[in-house]
Amino acid sequence: MSLTRTQVGIVGAGPAGLMLSHLLHLEGIESVVIESQSRTYCEQRVRAGLLEQASVDLLVQSGAGERLRREALVHEGIELCFNHRRHRIDLFELTGRKVTIYGQQEVVKDLIQARLNAGGQLLFESEAIGFDDPLSAEPVIRYRKDGDVREVRCDFIAGCDGFHGVCRASMPAGVLTRYERVYPFGWLGILAEVPPASKELVYANHERGFALLTMRSLILSRLYLQCAPDENLDEWADARIWEELNTRCAAEAGFAVRDGPIIQKSVTALRSFVTEPMQFGKLFLAGDAAHIVPPTGAKGMNLALADVYVLARALAQFYRNGQDELLNCYSETCLRRVWRVQQFSWWMTYMLHRFGDDTAFEHRRQIAELEYVTRSRAAAQSLAENYAGLPLP
Ligand code: DHB
Repeated sequence: MSLTRTQVGIVGAGPAGLMLSHLLHLEGIESVVIESQSRTYCEQRVRAGLLEQASVDLLVQSGAGERLRREALVHEGIELCFNHRRHRIDLFELTGRKVTIYGQQEVVKDLIQARLNAGGQLLFESEAIGFDDPLSAEPVIRYRKDGDVREVRCDFIAGCDGFHGVCRASMPAGVLTRYERVYPFGWLGILAEVPPASKELVYANHERGFALLTMRSLILSRLYLQCAPDENLDEWADARIWEELNTRCAAEAGFAVRDGPIIQKSVTALRSFVTEPMQFGKLFLAGDAAHIVPPTGAKGMNLALADVYVLARALAQFYRNGQDELLNCYSETCLRRVWRVQQFSWWMTYMLHRFGDDTAFEHRRQIAELEYVTRSRAAAQSLAENYAGLPLP
């Protein structure tokens, strides 16, 4: 059996696992990243694409933000569309912070490149299958590669392997408490080769359901429609998607969502989920392995990056002087931010979506909330502060 020894064994090569490996390297700490998918798959997986200021700063300050600075689109505001009118929230004026459009797969590409340039060990097509005792001084990650079972021995394990990963699933029964809410809808997302319909993101509350206009570049649009959680994509011919986007985002005369070739279509169910604690023995969970937010507040990737920032700092303290205070409060430090972001994502979701049991009362309540958020500076500032993102802990 092939055996590797490292300081930190990281499961998952998404933004969390790769950023952790990168930050640890800058602290002189060695890690191995174990990823079940191929490098190409990771680099092409279309996911969210909005970075808070703090996430951008982390990428830039850690030296992985060079392409981001050249290519990403910086936005100073967003628009909320309801009652057939659009209302701008000026994030920059309200908070002094901006948000940045840069696809998750671009972050992944840049971090993979940074790790490879530094001689980092990334094991693709290597499926983690379990651990030997996370309570032991030298835990072991077992993984399958080319049909063989291999091992990585390490001081610590970082579970960055997403909601369906093995890390959380391998925790002993009774250690974790799950907090969860599943929403009665999903998002149908498309990527289309057409310039964005609007310069800034548009979040629309419409009787037929929520819609979101976003983008990946000045020639590539990303668009979402609220749909059933198990919506059948076969029922969504391209023309129907464009028509629905135009209906839900209809605002002032002359505004239209222009159509173009659709190059990707998918359906995602919405869920709020938190597991507590985020640590057991030498195993630390980060990102979607520990929590999921509904995408309405654009927080998933940002929260994952905040987790690993906290974890890297705690591990650096440990390796520098043997102290484990920061490691011991990893879970508590992360969960404070996680629950703040959960609350914000839940609130945005409730304000903007149609629920199956909607009543006329509920719709009028949403409109009253949207009017308040767009007319009151205090309310707008609260939205903007959360949307543009809190400073890193
Ligand atoms: C994007 C996704 C979101 O969920 C969101 O709230 C904003 C932007 C995106 O994919 O660009």
